[in-house]
Amino acid sequence: VVPVCIAGTGSYLPEKIVTNADLEKKVDTSDEWIVTRTGIRERRMAAEGEFTSHMATKAAEKALEQAGVKAEDIQLIIVATITPDTLTPATACYVQERLGAFGAVAFDISAACSGFLYSMKIAKRLISDGAFENALIIGAEKLSSFVNWEDRNTCVLFGDGAGAAVLRKATCPEDGEILATEMGTDGRQTHLLNIPGGGSACPTTAENADQHLATLAMLGKEVFKHAVTRMKQSAEKVIERSGLKPEDIALVVPHQANLRIIDAIADRLDVPRDRVFTNLEKYGNTSAAAVAIALDEANRAGKIKKGEHAVLVVFGAGLTWAAAAVRW
Ligand code: ACO
Repeated sequence: VVPVCIAGTGSYLPEKIVTNADLEKKVDTSDEWIVTRTGIRERRMAAEGEFTSHMATKAAEKALEQAGVKAEDIQLIIVATITPDTLTPATACYVQERLGAFGAVAFDISAACSGFLYSMKIAKRLISDGAFENALIIGAEKLSSFVNWEDRNTCVLFGDGAGAAVLRKATCPEDGEILATEMGTDGRQTHLLNIPGGGSACPTTAENADQHLATLAMLGKEVFKHAVTRMKQSAEKVIERSGLKPEDIALVVPHQANLRIIDAIADRLDVPRDRVFTNLEKYGNTSAAAVAIALDEANRAGKIKKGEHAVLVVFGAGLTWAAAAVRW
């Protein structure tokens, strides 16, 4: 099998910060409730006129720069998002245009918070099969457009942002390698977390427009339980397949939804908490973007060094989950 590596990462967060104190003014909540239940202290919000594709493009530019790859040389662009600019065309097409990456095939995938690692598995396989030399994978979300700002159960949880990575064939051991990837889906649980309106099942009409149907709805407690079980199992699979032991893992980079979920997973994987990366305090849950932003921040902060091993693991609506083990 042709080895595939991560050649560069990038991320972008909008400037505007929304603190828990800001949300106290909008809904019946408190900084204390949000911090103790989730760990989130603030999140970012895209500016007026700033769309998912704008954020995706900025993250992509940084990843391309770090990888030393020109936009015109990229052959595949996958954008993972549940908050596309438009239902069609794909957000990846807007990104291709903004980057000037006209040699690339571009499409979106919808796997909620798991989308970035779904993209990684797809791109890795397409590169190792020889279909493409390289790929740009992006997780990008403008959740602020799909949150009901009157619902305290959900509006405190989410944020906007984008993260990206350039994958390419590894040509020497120093390039590192994506050692193992794993993904799964349970379509029996679609009701636990969804955006019920705005699609063909329930188009937005003049009659239902005020019912907030095109916003995120979640049964948080149920999602929580599935998240811990599935993320643990998924991470264990890639750890085993890549021949690693818990003590070989320099860093676990999990989906950034809830600090209590992350603590539970660190515990169950037997990885010390200081080897588990978190940034949800600053950004909240940015769905498909979360693990991509976390990977970039960990990379740029030197928390994963050349030759070290990292495990990425995610979970989201679907339900969906995925993991990857990487030698950096
Ligand atoms: N402020 C104050 N009170 C609140 C708030 C709030 N923002 N939100 C909910 N409450 C109240 C509820 O109304 C409830 O009150 P009640 O007992 O009087 O009915 C109480 O707090 C407890 O609510 P729970 O749902 O039991 O709280 P829980 O401890 O489960 O925490 C949370 C909720 C944070 C949502 C948690 O369940 C969670 O993180 N779940 C997982 C979410 C996740 O991982 N999603 C991942 C995928 S996201 C994606 O794919 C896009």
